[in-house]
Amino acid sequence: MSEHPPHQPTPDERARALVAQMSEDEKFAWLSGPMAIPLGNTRKPDGAVGSAAFYPAIPRLGLPALQQADASLGVSNLGNVRPGDHATGLPSSLLLGATFNPELAFASGSVVGVEARSKGFNVQLAGGANLIRDPRGGRNFEYIAEDPLLTGVLAGQSVAGIQAQQVVSTVKHFAVNAQETGRVMASSNLSEAALRESDLLAFQIAIETGAPGAVMPGYNLVNGEYACENAFLLNQVLKQEWGYPGWVMSDWGATHSTVKAALAGLDVQSGANLDDADYFGNLLRQAVRDATVPQARIDDMVTRIVRSLIAVGVLDKPVASPVPIDYSQHKLVAQRQAEEGVVLLRNAGGQLPLAQGLRRLLVIGAHADHGVLCGGGSSAVTPIGSLSLPGTDIMGMQVDKIYQPSSIVQALREESGAQQVEFLDGTDPALAVAHARIANAVILCAQEWRSEALDAHGLGLPDEQDALIERVAAANPNTTVVLQTGGPVLMPWLEKVAAVLAAWYPGSGGGPAIAGVLFGRVNPSGRLPVTFPASESQLPRPEQTDPRTTTSNPGTPRIGEILPIDYDIEGADVGYRWYAREKFTPLFPFGFGLSYTDFRVSDASVVNGPGFTVTAQVENTGAVAGACTVQVYVGKTGTDGFAKRLAGFKKVFLKPGERAQAEILLEPRILARFDDGAFKIGAGDYQVWVANHAQDEALEVGLQVGEALSL
Ligand code: BGC
Repeated sequence: MSEHPPHQPTPDERARALVAQMSEDEKFAWLSGPMAIPLGNTRKPDGAVGSAAFYPAIPRLGLPALQQADASLGVSNLGNVRPGDHATGLPSSLLLGATFNPELAFASGSVVGVEARSKGFNVQLAGGANLIRDPRGGRNFEYIAEDPLLTGVLAGQSVAGIQAQQVVSTVKHFAVNAQETGRVMASSNLSEAALRESDLLAFQIAIETGAPGAVMPGYNLVNGEYACENAFLLNQVLKQEWGYPGWVMSDWGATHSTVKAALAGLDVQSGANLDDADYFGNLLRQAVRDATVPQARIDDMVTRIVRSLIAVGVLDKPVASPVPIDYSQHKLVAQRQAEEGVVLLRNAGGQLPLAQGLRRLLVIGAHADHGVLCGGGSSAVTPIGSLSLPGTDIMGMQVDKIYQPSSIVQALREESGAQQVEFLDGTDPALAVAHARIANAVILCAQEWRSEALDAHGLGLPDEQDALIERVAAANPNTTVVLQTGGPVLMPWLEKVAAVLAAWYPGSGGGPAIAGVLFGRVNPSGRLPVTFPASESQLPRPEQTDPRTTTSNPGTPRIGEILPIDYDIEGADVGYRWYAREKFTPLFPFGFGLSYTDFRVSDASVVNGPGFTVTAQVENTGAVAGACTVQVYVGKTGTDGFAKRLAGFKKVFLKPGERAQAEILLEPRILARFDDGAFKIGAGDYQVWVANHAQDEALEVGLQVGEALSL
């Protein structure tokens, strides 16, 4: 007779057994804590590595201290709390979105995980999964796309990459945290069906894909309730319907109550020193004594934390710091990502790639002699040798404007074979024009810095850069604009320049990635993860909140009233879906991006069942190797219809002349409407476009669904 293998306890069983041995003091020590960065009266706690948060170890139970660091784009060092410590700067999440490549999301997550672990962190506050509902959003660079499928898949893979290194990752900021100006006052108001078919779906897919150990609700309110005490979001949807087993930690200074928050599903009060009260400290202990919060709820909170630590491997493979980090290897991962995420938007007359061996190449602007711009706030990463310029104030801390040390000029010197590569900072337009006249080609680096806690003011490039571009382009028709921005910008000069690259914030390998695209070592394959509007009047809400009338930082006195933001205007039709519905033509559509080769996509068909699968032939008909991102959009007319949605995508890499079959399994919830508590795919005719971007309707196949399907 064979013996039964010994029962392996599940993470839940192990967690419950450990929590049963914890004292009440030990439990409460993990339920609320201040920032682990000296700020005002708070100091760095003993034992803290120095980061966003620290909760003490319980050595007798083998439970390590929780050392929590920011964020998705590398391990940040806010306020230089770890003097001199540095890290690899990954490109912005928007650039990751532009790669349309889940493998790169996993790879970049792994870099963050390895570095976090090596520095002594076991929780990474990563996984930005909000949808970009406003192209002016201050934190768009920390989010992946305006589309729920692309966001969910890539955020989930990035989380999986971090957690493969036994470092817990969050997903954040749950949910509809789409505006930075007034972020602690803004109520994102949106009907349930629209929420489920857009922002919540992005989080749902990210959680299914990456199984993050923790979820961080944001500062904002959702339908009038703060996200951190929103029973619909936390208890009903996340924990009950989705069966989420991990813990819910508030954003820093985003907790507003004790009993309400605890009963709504919040497990931890983070950044408690920024809140009005120590809600999950003595007030929560009192609530347990008063029986307004059951003891079982306290045990559930702690069990969820311990369970995630076990599930991700933090307990079984504890962090042993310090471990040397191979920064040069990580920089190459960042570079590879940037090379796939730079988007070629315009290439008039085949201006790019530039010819090798030009006599005079002129580079202008954006500190391109030093490095590349990175977004501001808690996610900012400062690799060694970064240039820090004055930025803005967040929560009483000066947040610098950082240029990561990856010189575009230096990379161009190495890549171009030009006899002379000259740099001008762009502050003297007349000088720039004079030098442009005698250059063989001009690379004009334009930039737009965005930061947490403040939305961009309009969609124009700041600091009169539009005028500079106009003047330089008039002086030299061979002008290429390289944009480093936190999102879409307007381009009044578009027709006057030869080429435009969107390089987002390209990270520690940004210089060589940009130079590689300009000179053809890299064939650009990035596609826009966000629509570039033709004007602000195309936006669902052209008006913006005036930052002087509201409060954007926690821990500061509130100005004005709660700000209702009506997201029902576009509802689930975020970004390109809105443009399809309103029949607007944007400046550049979602999914758009040029290549140095040509692709033919043909022979598309869709198979219904099991699941919906689209197949198509893709051929590289040009002269260089490249990647084509095949995008499948679906639309449906009728009362349960919708204008257009990305239901699947695949990036196909092909040599010249090579052909391949792309097989794309569609995400069924994208074809569905949320009605009466569930996703349902309606019966009837669907339009399916196998497309190059959201406005490309050249290749259409029909799909008929005979009977309605409940998912
Ligand atoms: C941000 C979070 C971040 C936290 C800790 C907050 O201001 O919104 O994304 O993780 O700070 O630094």
